[in-house]
Amino acid sequence: SVVVLDFGGQYAHLIARRIRELNYHSLLLPYDASLEEIQRLNPVAVILSGGPASIYEANAPKPSKEVSHWLLSGEVPVLGICYGHQLLADMLGGEVQRRDEAEYGLSKMNVLQDDELFRGTPKEQTVWMSHRDAVVRLPPDTIRLAETNYSYVAAFRHIAKPIYGVQFHPEVKHTEHGMTILRNFLARITGAQPNWFVEDVVEEKIKELKKKTRGNVLVAVSGGVDSITTATIMLRVFGSNSVHIVFVDTGLLREGEPERVLKTLKSLGFEHIHFVDAKKLFLSRLKGVTDPEEKRKIIAETFREIFVSTVMEVEKKYGQINYLAQGTIYPDRVESGKTSRATAKIKSHHNVVMGQLPGIEILEPLADFYKDEVRKIALKLGIPEEIVYQHPFPGPGLAVRIIGEVTEDKLSILRKATKIVEEEFLKSGWYRKVWQAFPVLLSLKTVGVKGDVRSYEYVVALRVVESEDAMTANFVKLPWELLDRISHRITNEVEGVNRVLYDITNKPPATIEFE
Ligand code: XMP
Repeated sequence: SVVVLDFGGQYAHLIARRIRELNYHSLLLPYDASLEEIQRLNPVAVILSGGPASIYEANAPKPSKEVSHWLLSGEVPVLGICYGHQLLADMLGGEVQRRDEAEYGLSKMNVLQDDELFRGTPKEQTVWMSHRDAVVRLPPDTIRLAETNYSYVAAFRHIAKPIYGVQFHPEVKHTEHGMTILRNFLARITGAQPNWFVEDVVEEKIKELKKKTRGNVLVAVSGGVDSITTATIMLRVFGSNSVHIVFVDTGLLREGEPERVLKTLKSLGFEHIHFVDAKKLFLSRLKGVTDPEEKRKIIAETFREIFVSTVMEVEKKYGQINYLAQGTIYPDRVESGKTSRATAKIKSHHNVVMGQLPGIEILEPLADFYKDEVRKIALKLGIPEEIVYQHPFPGPGLAVRIIGEVTEDKLSILRKATKIVEEEFLKSGWYRKVWQAFPVLLSLKTVGVKGDVRSYEYVVALRVVESEDAMTANFVKLPWELLDRISHRITNEVEGVNRVLYDITNKPPATIEFE
């Protein structure tokens, strides 16, 4: 594996993902992992991530003495990125200082040496920078490999050992030759072969699960790619007779969604599908509730209740359930640094709602994979493209896209608007270009004029973002024509709406969903 030591940077997961894209296995470990933990993974290289701290601060995150000593020994190649670069410079005896001005965004970088790291890239190239501290004095026995106007040491290496530091972020797409630089580090400097393919890994996983499991498994399916892929893996492991699917219609789903999910499940070969129509129950529990967290809590609790009673019913009819399979993916499991997954505290996401049930073991076949890897696995398992590439949809569904109280009327309006947005995005080819695109019903009415008559109706906000992993997101600068068409269709075709707004806020400071 390539071990990424995580110093709390927002890009730590991205580094691991990029390495996997280059077909090398990669895992994240906390920056203070012990030498034993690191060595247990048989690392071919160690990458030190970026992070928000300053190396000269008293509590700056640093590896243990033992790990530092090993990192500097040259036994395995080491690459420091941003904070990691500054940390290596400091550990090797250089100097890092805070500068007056930050270097943030795109920078022109000049490559000064003909080094393996930059092989196949031009002398002058654009890189992505995000720092204020900088290496101001080169450590002894190292050479400068690159510079920018702001950074005297944009990259350096040790003269005798495979120890490298880069101030810029090769993992960020805006760095023109970032992937080539990462590939050079892996292929040329570590010499390791790119031989990790997610499709093979999942076949291995299926074989392994076949050997060690027996009995019945139950999967709660939401309709999203993670849960359907998990269920399909279970089908391969246990066979259709022993796989039980629970699918709950909360009434908070999109138009035609329950039917669509059921049809997909049937076409994938599932035989025991336990469909629960809980529309009335959810709506009655949500009556009068306006607080976002309260809504999320009620939905999660109601879901759990239904789930537990369904498990009991299934057991009565089919015998003991031995396993519960969940669609947990790698970023859900491994918190990056202290900063990320902060959303978990901002909103109580309901993914792992089921938790422990007595006598039932949890299986998480996707726990080692990133979303884009899950998509590859899903395609390999024959899951239809519409499911594989669909945008994320939150567990609490449309309830968090209706500000304030959820009512049947508002749900019906939002369902129609959602359908229009999805249709227009698919038709224009924009669907696959964005992370998410959806309308939100603001429980707010404004005055308008429809057919010469005064109207007093709801406002809909359109939210369209691009993102790598939902931790940060930017609103998308859509063409006016598309916005125009969507606005026109919503105000004409959806009764009860006379105004459409476009959300031009990034995350942070906003979140992707409104509640
Ligand atoms: P926020 O609104 O926190 O959303 O910026 C980040 C991403 O998570 C999705 N989301 C959820 N997903 N259960 C989920 O499985 C939830 O409760 C939930 N809430 C938000 C959201 O759609 C976005 O992609």
